[in-house]
Formats: sequence, structure tokens, C-alpha cells
Amino acid sequence: MLRILSRSTSRGIVRVTQCTSTAMTQPPPGKMFSLQASLPRLPVPPLEQTLNKYLKSVRPLLSDEEFKTTEQIVQDFSRNPGPKLQKLLEYKANQEENWLSDWWMKTAYLEFRSPVPVNVSPGIVFPRQSYRDKEGQLRFASKLIAGVLDFKVMIDTQNLPVEHMGKKPLCMTQYYKILSACRTPGKKCDSWACYPPNESNAPKHIIVAHNNQFFSLDVYGADGRPLSEAQIYRQLKSLVQESAQVATPVGLLTTENRSTWAKAYSELVNDQENSASLRKINHSICLVCLDNNLPQDMSDERSVAAQQMLHGGGDSLNSGNRWFDKTIQFVVGREGISGLTYEHTSAEGPPVVMLLDHVVKYCSENHSPGSDTPAPATPTKLTFNLSKNIKEMIDTARTHLDVLVDDVDLNVFVFKDYGKNFPKSQKMSPDSFLQNAIQLAYYRIHNEPAPHYETGTLRMFHLGRTDTIRSCSEASLEFCKAFVNSNTPKERKVELLRNAVQAHKSYTNEVIQGNGIDRHLLGLKLAAIKNGMNVPDLHMDMAYTLSTHFRMSTSQVPAHSDSVLVFGPVVPDGYGVCYNPQETQVHFGVSAFNITPETNSKNYINMLRNTLLEMRDLFQGSMQSKL
Ligand code: COA
Repeated sequence: MLRILSRSTSRGIVRVTQCTSTAMTQPPPGKMFSLQASLPRLPVPPLEQTLNKYLKSVRPLLSDEEFKTTEQIVQDFSRNPGPKLQKLLEYKANQEENWLSDWWMKTAYLEFRSPVPVNVSPGIVFPRQSYRDKEGQLRFASKLIAGVLDFKVMIDTQNLPVEHMGKKPLCMTQYYKILSACRTPGKKCDSWACYPPNESNAPKHIIVAHNNQFFSLDVYGADGRPLSEAQIYRQLKSLVQESAQVATPVGLLTTENRSTWAKAYSELVNDQENSASLRKINHSICLVCLDNNLPQDMSDERSVAAQQMLHGGGDSLNSGNRWFDKTIQFVVGREGISGLTYEHTSAEGPPVVMLLDHVVKYCSENHSPGSDTPAPATPTKLTFNLSKNIKEMIDTARTHLDVLVDDVDLNVFVFKDYGKNFPKSQKMSPDSFLQNAIQLAYYRIHNEPAPHYETGTLRMFHLGRTDTIRSCSEASLEFCKAFVNSNTPKERKVELLRNAVQAHKSYTNEVIQGNGIDRHLLGLKLAAIKNGMNVPDLHMDMAYTLSTHFRMSTSQVPAHSDSVLVFGPVVPDGYGVCYNPQETQVHFGVSAFNITPETNSKNYINMLRNTLLEMRDLFQGSMQSKL
């Protein structure tokens, strides 16, 4: 039986705000959800297991003395209040579909106050397209929209096949949200609303942004079928003509700190016309941003494209031509540059990448554009009455965003010497091999191990999102130390690398089976707070703060297309590293902040490239190599 996923209002909108505690849509049973009911519930791991693993994970980051203090704190916690908090969590897990999902949505997203571009929303660069002029841009955008609608049909009719990890089916609910949800700002906590495809008010329009202006475009004809590419093109052409002038960038408000944006939003929404425009945007399928400006320096075009997807390039380029609250914004730029950015509350990267792979493939195929008749209803321009106060807020947002954009140091590169094939040929997990390369490159630059986050999926569980794979381990540190020591024999380095890869793989397997430690520790802390207790000493301990100050924030987001995902670091002195490993190459996106001169994405990339080559060299002459 399908579990009840959430309360839904009578108008078919699923909302999450600070007042409500449920987060998910209630999909009807269908092929895409045929295995949903069989998915297990996310377990609460045993307390002792988590505490032991936690101690192991902080060991490489602490001195002997610091470790002793932490051991004592953990021991005390295991007596009190650990068991009480564990019971509270287990009770929650018995009552709810997923004990973590609503807490996670709020803690990780809705209560997080920093601007969503760079800090929350990743960008994805698509493979370079061949168009070079405005006409080509519009033709490509039409095709892209047709491709999105083609994918959406599979979601709406629940014809997407259930994804699996090995033999285990994965939770498919994220697909129901990526093309029907939006976040809106709140003073202390944002709201999130989803208009699922099975409801009568499911969105039938997209928003197109051009020259900072927004248009609502109905993408279904009177017969209920998606418009043809030719019909869409006709619409785009007309709205581009109607928006020849650059408008005041009201969209820049969505790049603000969330509480600041909430203040502006509450004023904006008081005006009827604004309120109608905001409703149209929030309730749309997605945005398509037709960008104009490219920076002067295009010497590293792919990295420029990555910046355009991550934050739009600042006020002078395309950041005002966005609405960052919307779950997915496709970007169709000049000179064949395209991609997307997505607001993270609704989903992780993999479902979004599934959609983009479909769209990229669709755009590369020879589909007939169809007929441009009957002429669809003309696009509606969304208008805003901007008070003096709001205009000042837009000016402030402009300044804040430009500071943020200047701070981001972002570069992408393709490592072409090998891909998953090499670690596989050595009987090692490619992901664990790459994670150790990422950790080692950091160690070689900074002479110390980095607290290291990798996203591990929890989608094997009903409504599962993610947990942390702590990639820095005693084994990885031992390998790093041995690697930089010129006296270590090659065979010993290989042995230690294999140990480190195995340690990472084991940790990964534990995480994806629901036995990670970070969400459990978060749950114990929140259980204390929600029940009026003090935040436990364990969570106030330096070891906890240090080990969650993730100077390496990393994620694997594989794609069939030559796409690369990028995101910002999660701490000012850290790096964000995302990679798309393919069989014979790996696409990397690397970010840092300029405010910390010790972290530099180009330096890191050079070190990572050398490290990957040197790690392969360790195996040269090995009988096992099948490359
Ligand atoms: N010898 C040979 N081959 C091996 C191997 C070994 N010892 N170990 C693994 N492989 C193979 C696998 O069979 C697999 O083969 P395939 O390419 O034919 O599918 C391939 O190597 C990849 O496996 P691996 O590198 O171990 O990783 P994974 O694909 O299992 O992914 C995670 C690991 C952690 C990335 C994944 O579990 C996960 O959680 N992904 C979600 C991340 C996410 O949500 N990101 C988005 C954040 S916004």
C-alpha cells in the first residue's frame, strides 16, 4: 500500500512552511511509483554504533589530547542524554513516514538564510551548442522547451522507469517536484509549495525571462497537448520583440539573503498586480532564461559558462534575468552556451540530470519542429509596480550580489587521461578512488587533512534524501602521509591507497544503507532542541564543529552528456568539487572563495590533475592493469 506522504490542501498545493511539518507530495500509484510502497523506512541507527563511528571519523582531525577530551564527551553523552534523545527519535520514526525529511528540509534549506545562488543552488553547464546568433538562440530554446515537455509527459503519465541502485529500487518522489515546485521567502523560515502533476491545478505554463522581464507562456494547446517546437518558437519570437529594452531587475531580489528578500516580498505582494505576477511565477513549470550578455574575457569559455549557470555573472551580465526561487531555471545564452540552475529544496542532482540528459539528447536529434498553427495564445507579460522602497532594495541586492559574484572563484576542467575505466581495471571503486584523489590533492596543498563531505544518497528509503560520506578517514590520512613521503616505496603507497579506497567504499555502503552518522547526530541535536533541552555537549564540542566544517564539499553527479555541475564551497575557507565521471574521462567543477587567498581553484585543479596522474603511475607495471 502506498504510504500517505503529506497533507495536501483542497487546491492541490502541497505547502511546507514554518507552521507545517510535512514535506512531500502524495503521488498516485502508477508505473513510476509501482515499487514505492515496498521501499523501507529510513532507520534510526543504533546509538552506540553512531558514537563509535563518530569517534573514528574525528580521529584524523584531532591531536591526541583533543581526542581524549572528545572521547570523554562522547562517553558522557552515551549515558546522558544520548539514550533519551535516541528514544525520542525512535518515537518520531514510528510516527512518521520518514523521521528525517521534514527536519532536513527546514534545517538544510528553508531556515537557511544565505542567498540561494552560490550557497544552495548548483549550476549545470550543457555541452556547447552550435548556434551563434539570436535566431539560433531562439530556435535552440524552442527545442529545449519541447524536450522538457517531452520528459514531463513521462513524469505526468508516471512512465519513467523506477531507478535502481544495484537491485534496490529508489524513491521516485523527487521527479514529481522538479517541474512543479517553488520556494518563497519568509522572515525566519521560507515556504515551499508544490503543484503536483496529478492535481487539477498542475501548472500548464512556463516563465520566460528576457532582458530582466518575465512572460508567462502557456505550453499546452487547447487540445491539452504540448505545443510544437514551431509554436513555441513563434511565442518566443513575439516576447523577445516585446522586451527589447532592459527592465529594472526585480529578479535580483531573489539573490538576497532570505530574510531581506522576505521583507521585500511582503511589500511586493501587497500590490495586486505584483501579487498576480508572483503567483504566476511560483505556480509555473519552470523558467527559461534567454540571456544576453557575455563577459569580455571568454578565454576559458566553459568556466565562464559555469559562472553564468551558478549566479548569472552579476548585475552587468545576466543575474537580473533570473528568479532563483524557482526549482529549475534553464538558461539559453548567447554563442551556444546553455545549462540550468536549480533551487535545491525539491531534489538532489540525479533527477535533474536525468531530465537534462533527456533534453540534451532531444536537442541533438532531428525532431520535426511541427506546425506553428494554430497560433497559441500570446505570452502574457508579468508586470510589477515597484515602489521607491523596492527600487532601493533592488539597488542593495545588486551591490550584495556583485560582492558575492566577485568572491566566487570557479573553474571547470575535463580530466582526459582516464575515467572510471582505470580504477575499475585495478578492481577499485571509481568513486572511492576519486574521493581519495580529491583528499590527497587538498593535503598536498594545505599539509593537513580536510573535513570532507561527499553526498551519499538515501533514496533506497521512502522519501530519502542524503547523508554525509565522511571521506577523510584514518586510512586516507595514512595514505596521504605516505604519498608525500619520498621514502615510501611504491608498493606501500599502492597498499595504503587500496586500504583508503576500501575504507571509503565501506563507509559509502553504510551510508546508503541508512547507517551514516551525520543525519543521526543532527536528529539527536534537534530532538533535544524540540523538547526544550539544552544542545548536548557533544554538539558543542570543538571536534563536532571542526569535523562538520567541511573544507572539502564534494559530490558525484554522473551524466551521460558532457555536462558538468558546479556549486559553491560551504565554508569561506573551503572548496566545492563536483564531478561527472565517465568511462574514459572525468568532468570536474571546482570552486573556492577569493576572500581566502589560501584556497584557489586553479591551483587546486593543477594539483588534482597531477595527483590523478601520479596515482595512476603508482600502478605502472602492475600485472593487474588491463588498460
Ligand atoms: N572493481 C571494479 N568495478 C567497481 C568496483 C571494483 N572494486 N567498485 C565499483 N565498481 C564499478 C561499479 O560496479 C559501477 O559500475 P558501472 O559504471 O557499470 O555502473 C562503477 O564502478 C561505479 O561505482 P562506484 O564508483 O563505486 O560508485 P557508485 O556509482 O556506486 O556511486 C555514490 C557512489 C556515493 C556517488 C552513490 O552511491 C551516491 O550516493 N550517489 C548520489 C550522489 C548525489 O545525490 N549527488 C547529488 C548531490 S546534489
